[in-house]
Amino acid sequence: MADETAPPHDLEGKTIVVTGATRGIGSALTHDLLARGAKVYCVVRDAERASALKDEWFRLTHNPECLVVGADLADMGQVRVAAEEIGAKEESLYALVHNAGAWPTTRRETVDGFETTIAVNHLAPFLLTHLLVDRLVAGAPARIVSVSSAVHTRGAIHLDDLQLEKSFSGRAAYCQSKLANVLFVRELAARLADKGVTANAVHPGVVKTDLGREIPRIIRAAVRLFSVSPEDGAAPLVRLVTDPELANVSGKYFHRFEQREPARQALDEDMQRKLWDLSCELLGLAPDAI
Ligand SMILES: NC(=O)c1ccc[n+]([C@@H]2O[C@H](COP(=O)([O-])OP(=O)(O)OC[C@H]3O[C@@H](n4cnc5c(N)ncnc54)[C@H](OP(=O)(O)O)[C@@H]3O)[C@@H](O)[C@H]2O)c1
Repeated sequence: MADETAPPHDLEGKTIVVTGATRGIGSALTHDLLARGAKVYCVVRDAERASALKDEWFRLTHNPECLVVGADLADMGQVRVAAEEIGAKEESLYALVHNAGAWPTTRRETVDGFETTIAVNHLAPFLLTHLLVDRLVAGAPARIVSVSSAVHTRGAIHLDDLQLEKSFSGRAAYCQSKLANVLFVRELAARLADKGVTANAVHPGVVKTDLGREIPRIIRAAVRLFSVSPEDGAAPLVRLVTDPELANVSGKYFHRFEQREPARQALDEDMQRKLWDLSCELLGLAPDAI
Protein backbone atom coordinates (compact mmCIF):
# COMPACT_ATOMS: atom_id res chain seq x y z
CA MET A 1 0.00 0.00 0.00
CA ALA A 2 1.30 3.49 -0.87
CA ASP A 3 2.50 5.57 2.08
CA GLU A 4 0.21 8.62 2.01
CA THR A 5 2.50 10.55 4.35
CA ALA A 6 5.48 10.25 1.97
CA PRO A 7 6.33 13.45 0.02
CA PRO A 8 5.58 13.44 -3.73
CA HIS A 9 8.39 12.56 -6.13
CA ASP A 10 8.21 16.04 -7.67
CA LEU A 11 11.96 16.69 -7.81
CA GLU A 12 12.95 13.62 -9.80
CA GLY A 13 15.66 14.60 -12.33
CA LYS A 14 16.35 17.94 -10.61
CA THR A 15 19.75 18.88 -9.16
CA ILE A 16 19.88 21.12 -6.12
CA VAL A 17 22.76 22.64 -4.14
CA VAL A 18 22.18 23.14 -0.40
CA THR A 19 24.63 24.76 2.01
CA GLY A 20 24.73 23.84 5.70
CA ALA A 21 23.05 20.46 5.33
CA THR A 22 24.68 19.01 8.44
CA ARG A 23 22.39 20.47 11.09
CA GLY A 24 19.05 22.03 11.90
CA ILE A 25 16.99 23.41 9.06
CA GLY A 26 19.46 22.39 6.33
CA SER A 27 19.51 18.78 7.45
CA ALA A 28 15.70 18.57 7.51
CA LEU A 29 15.54 20.31 4.12
CA THR A 30 18.03 17.93 2.51
CA HIS A 31 16.18 14.89 3.83
CA ASP A 32 12.94 16.22 2.33
CA LEU A 33 14.52 17.07 -1.05
CA LEU A 34 16.06 13.59 -1.27
CA ALA A 35 12.71 12.03 -0.38
CA ARG A 36 11.21 13.95 -3.30
CA GLY A 37 13.74 12.37 -5.66
CA ALA A 38 16.18 15.28 -6.10
CA LYS A 39 19.91 14.92 -6.61
CA VAL A 40 21.39 17.05 -3.82
CA TYR A 41 24.88 18.52 -3.52
CA CYS A 42 25.51 19.25 0.16
CA VAL A 43 28.14 21.96 0.64
CA VAL A 44 29.38 21.38 4.18
CA ARG A 45 32.40 22.06 6.38
CA ASP A 46 31.95 18.86 8.41
CA ALA A 47 32.26 16.14 5.76
CA GLU A 48 32.35 13.35 8.35
CA ARG A 49 29.04 14.40 9.86
CA ALA A 50 27.58 14.82 6.35
CA SER A 51 28.70 11.35 5.38
CA ALA A 52 26.94 9.81 8.42
CA LEU A 53 23.79 11.79 7.57
CA LYS A 54 24.03 10.67 3.94
CA ASP A 55 23.89 7.03 5.08
CA GLU A 56 20.89 7.80 7.28
CA TRP A 57 19.08 9.68 4.47
CA PHE A 58 19.72 6.78 2.10
CA ARG A 59 18.26 4.37 4.67
CA LEU A 60 15.16 6.56 4.96
CA THR A 61 14.66 7.67 1.32
CA HIS A 62 16.45 4.99 -0.79
CA ASN A 63 17.76 7.91 -2.84
CA PRO A 64 21.51 7.44 -3.51
CA GLU A 65 21.92 10.85 -5.17
CA CYS A 66 23.35 12.76 -2.23
CA LEU A 67 26.81 14.21 -2.92
CA VAL A 68 28.96 15.76 -0.23
CA VAL A 69 31.18 18.72 -1.18
CA GLY A 70 33.49 19.89 1.59
CA ALA A 71 33.90 23.65 2.05
CA ASP A 72 34.25 25.97 4.99
CA LEU A 73 32.17 28.93 3.83
CA ALA A 74 34.32 31.23 5.94
CA ASP A 75 37.11 30.62 3.41
CA MET A 76 36.40 32.10 -0.03
CA GLY A 77 39.10 29.90 -1.60
CA GLN A 78 37.16 26.83 -0.43
CA VAL A 79 33.91 28.30 -1.81
CA ARG A 80 35.63 28.60 -5.20
CA VAL A 81 36.89 25.01 -5.09
CA ALA A 82 33.42 23.71 -4.13
CA ALA A 83 31.81 25.61 -7.01
CA GLU A 84 34.42 24.25 -9.43
CA GLU A 85 33.74 20.70 -8.21
CA ILE A 86 29.98 21.08 -8.74
CA GLY A 87 30.40 22.94 -12.03
CA ALA A 88 32.70 20.22 -13.37
CA LYS A 89 30.04 17.57 -12.72
CA GLU A 90 26.83 19.43 -13.57
CA GLU A 91 26.01 21.40 -16.69
CA SER A 92 22.76 22.67 -15.23
CA LEU A 93 21.17 23.16 -11.83
CA TYR A 94 17.57 23.53 -10.76
CA ALA A 95 18.08 25.26 -7.40
CA LEU A 96 20.63 26.76 -5.05
CA VAL A 97 19.63 27.09 -1.40
CA HIS A 98 21.77 29.38 0.74
CA ASN A 99 20.92 27.94 4.12
CA ALA A 100 24.22 27.80 6.07
CA GLY A 101 24.44 30.50 8.69
CA ALA A 102 26.42 31.47 11.75
CA TRP A 103 25.83 33.73 14.74
CA PRO A 104 29.16 34.25 16.51
CA THR A 105 28.98 36.45 19.59
CA THR A 106 32.61 37.64 19.44
CA ARG A 107 34.40 39.28 16.53
CA ARG A 108 36.54 36.75 14.68
CA GLU A 109 38.29 37.19 11.36
CA THR A 110 38.40 34.62 8.60
CA VAL A 111 41.49 33.58 6.63
CA ASP A 112 40.53 36.26 4.10
CA GLY A 113 40.42 38.94 6.82
CA PHE A 114 36.62 39.26 6.79
CA GLU A 115 34.44 39.35 9.91
CA THR A 116 33.03 35.79 10.19
CA THR A 117 29.29 36.60 10.24
CA ILE A 118 29.31 38.71 7.09
CA ALA A 119 31.67 36.21 5.42
CA VAL A 120 29.59 33.08 6.06
CA ASN A 121 26.11 34.62 5.88
CA HIS A 122 26.54 37.08 3.00
CA LEU A 123 29.87 37.01 1.13
CA ALA A 124 29.99 33.20 0.69
CA PRO A 125 26.45 32.97 -0.78
CA PHE A 126 27.19 36.04 -2.92
CA LEU A 127 30.33 34.37 -4.31
CA LEU A 128 28.76 30.91 -4.70
CA THR A 129 25.87 32.46 -6.65
CA HIS A 130 28.30 34.19 -9.02
CA LEU A 131 30.20 30.95 -9.57
CA LEU A 132 27.10 28.80 -10.22
CA VAL A 133 24.79 31.27 -11.94
CA ASP A 134 25.66 30.00 -15.44
CA ARG A 135 24.62 26.49 -14.38
CA LEU A 136 21.34 27.84 -12.98
CA VAL A 137 20.64 29.82 -16.17
CA ALA A 138 21.37 26.63 -18.15
CA GLY A 139 18.85 24.81 -15.93
CA ALA A 140 16.14 27.50 -16.18
CA PRO A 141 13.46 27.64 -14.94
CA ALA A 142 15.59 27.60 -11.80
CA ARG A 143 15.40 28.99 -8.28
CA ILE A 144 17.71 30.58 -5.72
CA VAL A 145 16.54 30.65 -2.10
CA SER A 146 18.29 32.63 0.62
CA VAL A 147 17.52 31.86 4.26
CA SER A 148 17.30 35.27 5.89
CA SER A 149 15.51 36.06 9.14
CA ALA A 150 12.81 38.28 10.59
CA VAL A 151 15.62 40.03 12.49
CA HIS A 152 16.71 41.63 9.21
CA THR A 153 14.22 44.33 10.25
CA ARG A 154 16.62 45.30 13.06
CA GLY A 155 19.63 45.35 10.77
CA ALA A 156 21.63 48.17 9.25
CA ILE A 157 24.30 47.92 6.56
CA HIS A 158 27.49 49.66 7.63
CA LEU A 159 28.92 50.43 4.20
CA ASP A 160 31.88 52.25 5.72
CA ASP A 161 32.52 49.43 8.23
CA LEU A 162 30.95 46.23 6.88
CA GLN A 163 33.42 44.17 8.94
CA LEU A 164 32.31 46.02 12.13
CA GLU A 165 35.88 46.83 13.11
CA LYS A 166 34.87 50.07 14.84
CA SER A 167 32.04 48.67 16.91
CA PHE A 168 31.04 44.99 17.08
CA SER A 169 28.18 43.13 18.64
CA GLY A 170 27.10 39.62 17.62
CA ARG A 171 23.54 40.84 17.28
CA ALA A 172 24.45 43.80 15.03
CA ALA A 173 26.63 41.54 12.86
CA TYR A 174 23.92 38.87 12.52
CA CYS A 175 21.13 41.39 11.79
CA GLN A 176 23.34 43.19 9.24
CA SER A 177 24.06 39.88 7.47
CA LYS A 178 20.37 38.87 7.37
CA LEU A 179 19.45 42.29 5.96
CA ALA A 180 22.21 41.78 3.39
CA ASN A 181 20.47 38.52 2.35
CA VAL A 182 17.26 40.40 1.47
CA LEU A 183 19.07 43.27 -0.27
CA PHE A 184 21.07 40.69 -2.26
CA VAL A 185 18.08 38.68 -3.52
CA ARG A 186 16.24 41.84 -4.54
CA GLU A 187 19.16 43.08 -6.65
CA LEU A 188 19.83 39.55 -7.93
CA ALA A 189 16.20 39.03 -8.95
CA ALA A 190 16.29 42.24 -10.98
CA ARG A 191 19.51 41.18 -12.71
CA LEU A 192 18.14 37.68 -13.49
CA ALA A 193 14.67 38.87 -14.50
CA ASP A 194 14.95 37.75 -18.14
CA LYS A 195 17.04 34.64 -17.45
CA GLY A 196 14.36 32.35 -15.98
CA VAL A 197 16.03 32.19 -12.56
CA THR A 198 14.12 33.43 -9.51
CA ALA A 199 15.65 34.61 -6.22
CA ASN A 200 13.72 34.89 -2.97
CA ALA A 201 14.48 35.30 0.74
CA VAL A 202 12.72 33.52 3.58
CA HIS A 203 12.39 33.67 7.35
CA PRO A 204 11.97 30.02 8.44
CA GLY A 205 10.42 30.82 11.82
CA VAL A 206 12.03 30.53 15.24
CA VAL A 207 13.48 27.05 14.99
CA LYS A 208 15.00 24.69 17.55
CA THR A 209 18.54 24.36 16.15
CA ASP A 210 22.17 24.91 17.14
CA LEU A 211 22.30 28.43 15.66
CA GLY A 212 22.39 30.18 19.03
CA ARG A 213 25.11 27.90 20.45
CA GLU A 214 27.20 30.91 21.59
CA ILE A 215 24.24 32.74 23.15
CA PRO A 216 23.83 32.44 26.96
CA ARG A 217 22.10 29.18 27.93
CA ILE A 218 19.24 30.88 29.78
CA ILE A 219 18.25 32.96 26.73
CA ARG A 220 18.50 29.86 24.52
CA ALA A 221 16.26 27.89 26.87
CA ALA A 222 13.64 30.68 26.85
CA VAL A 223 13.67 30.92 23.03
CA ARG A 224 13.37 27.13 22.72
CA LEU A 225 10.03 27.30 24.53
CA PHE A 226 8.41 28.86 21.48
CA SER A 227 10.59 27.32 18.76
CA VAL A 228 9.37 24.93 16.07
CA SER A 229 11.11 21.74 14.94
CA PRO A 230 13.79 21.79 12.17
CA GLU A 231 11.31 19.94 9.89
CA ASP A 232 8.75 22.70 10.51
CA GLY A 233 11.45 25.31 9.86
CA ALA A 234 12.46 23.62 6.60
CA ALA A 235 8.89 23.47 5.25
CA PRO A 236 8.80 27.10 3.93
CA LEU A 237 12.12 26.43 2.13
CA VAL A 238 10.76 23.24 0.58
CA ARG A 239 7.81 25.25 -0.66
CA LEU A 240 10.04 27.92 -2.23
CA VAL A 241 11.92 25.18 -4.06
CA THR A 242 8.91 23.14 -5.18
CA ASP A 243 5.65 25.14 -5.39
CA PRO A 244 4.65 25.54 -9.08
CA GLU A 245 2.68 28.66 -8.11
CA LEU A 246 5.96 30.38 -7.18
CA ALA A 247 7.63 29.64 -10.53
CA ASN A 248 7.57 33.31 -11.55
CA VAL A 249 7.75 34.93 -8.12
CA SER A 250 11.10 36.65 -7.63
CA GLY A 251 12.76 39.29 -5.47
CA LYS A 252 10.31 38.64 -2.64
CA TYR A 253 10.57 38.09 1.10
CA PHE A 254 8.58 35.33 2.78
CA HIS A 255 7.82 35.19 6.49
CA ARG A 256 7.48 31.42 6.58
CA PHE A 257 4.71 30.76 4.01
CA GLU A 258 3.44 34.30 3.74
CA GLN A 259 4.84 36.76 1.22
CA ARG A 260 5.46 39.98 3.16
CA GLU A 261 6.93 43.39 2.59
CA PRO A 262 10.48 43.29 4.02
CA ALA A 263 11.87 46.07 6.22
CA ARG A 264 12.07 49.56 4.73
CA GLN A 265 15.88 49.39 4.65
CA ALA A 266 15.69 46.23 2.49
CA LEU A 267 13.70 48.13 -0.14
CA ASP A 268 16.40 50.78 -0.59
CA GLU A 269 17.50 50.28 -4.22
CA ASP A 270 20.51 52.55 -3.80
CA MET A 271 21.70 50.39 -0.90
CA GLN A 272 21.04 47.18 -2.90
CA ARG A 273 23.44 48.43 -5.58
CA LYS A 274 26.02 49.81 -3.14
CA LEU A 275 26.14 46.53 -1.18
CA TRP A 276 26.42 44.63 -4.47
CA ASP A 277 29.34 46.76 -5.65
CA LEU A 278 31.11 46.58 -2.29
CA SER A 279 30.70 42.78 -2.16
CA CYS A 280 32.14 42.49 -5.69
CA GLU A 281 35.09 44.70 -4.69
CA LEU A 282 35.80 42.58 -1.57
CA LEU A 283 35.59 39.33 -3.55
CA GLY A 284 37.38 40.50 -6.69
CA LEU A 285 34.31 40.05 -8.90
CA ALA A 286 33.23 42.27 -11.78
CA PRO A 287 30.16 44.31 -10.70
CA ASP A 288 28.31 43.49 -13.92
CA ALA A 289 29.17 39.76 -14.08
CA ILE A 290 25.48 38.97 -13.38
N1 LIG B 1 17.05 28.71 13.96
C1 LIG B 1 16.32 29.80 13.80
O1 LIG B 1 15.46 30.14 14.63
C2 LIG B 1 16.52 30.67 12.59
C3 LIG B 1 15.70 31.80 12.43
C4 LIG B 1 15.88 32.62 11.31
C5 LIG B 1 16.83 32.28 10.37
N2 LIG B 1 17.62 31.20 10.54
C6 LIG B 1 18.62 30.88 9.51
O2 LIG B 1 18.48 29.53 9.12
C7 LIG B 1 19.71 29.05 8.56
C8 LIG B 1 20.03 27.67 9.13
O3 LIG B 1 20.34 27.82 10.50
P1 LIG B 1 19.93 26.75 11.62
O4 LIG B 1 18.99 27.43 12.54
O5 LIG B 1 19.54 25.46 11.02
O6 LIG B 1 21.34 26.67 12.41
P2 LIG B 1 22.34 25.45 12.72
O7 LIG B 1 21.61 24.31 13.33
O8 LIG B 1 23.44 26.08 13.50
O9 LIG B 1 22.86 25.02 11.27
C9 LIG B 1 23.69 25.89 10.54
C10 LIG B 1 24.32 25.14 9.40
O10 LIG B 1 25.24 26.05 8.73
C11 LIG B 1 26.51 25.42 8.68
N3 LIG B 1 27.62 26.36 8.77
C12 LIG B 1 27.84 27.32 9.70
N4 LIG B 1 29.00 27.93 9.46
C13 LIG B 1 29.55 27.34 8.37
C14 LIG B 1 30.76 27.50 7.64
N5 LIG B 1 31.69 28.38 8.01
N6 LIG B 1 30.97 26.74 6.56
C15 LIG B 1 30.07 25.80 6.18
N7 LIG B 1 28.91 25.58 6.82
C16 LIG B 1 28.66 26.34 7.91
C17 LIG B 1 26.56 24.48 9.90
O11 LIG B 1 27.57 23.51 9.72
P3 LIG B 1 28.24 22.69 10.94
O12 LIG B 1 27.39 21.45 11.12
O13 LIG B 1 29.60 22.38 10.45
O14 LIG B 1 28.21 23.57 12.15
C18 LIG B 1 25.14 23.93 9.87
O15 LIG B 1 25.02 22.90 8.94
C19 LIG B 1 20.75 30.12 8.87
O16 LIG B 1 20.99 30.90 7.72
C20 LIG B 1 20.07 30.97 9.93
O17 LIG B 1 20.54 32.31 9.92
C21 LIG B 1 17.48 30.36 11.63
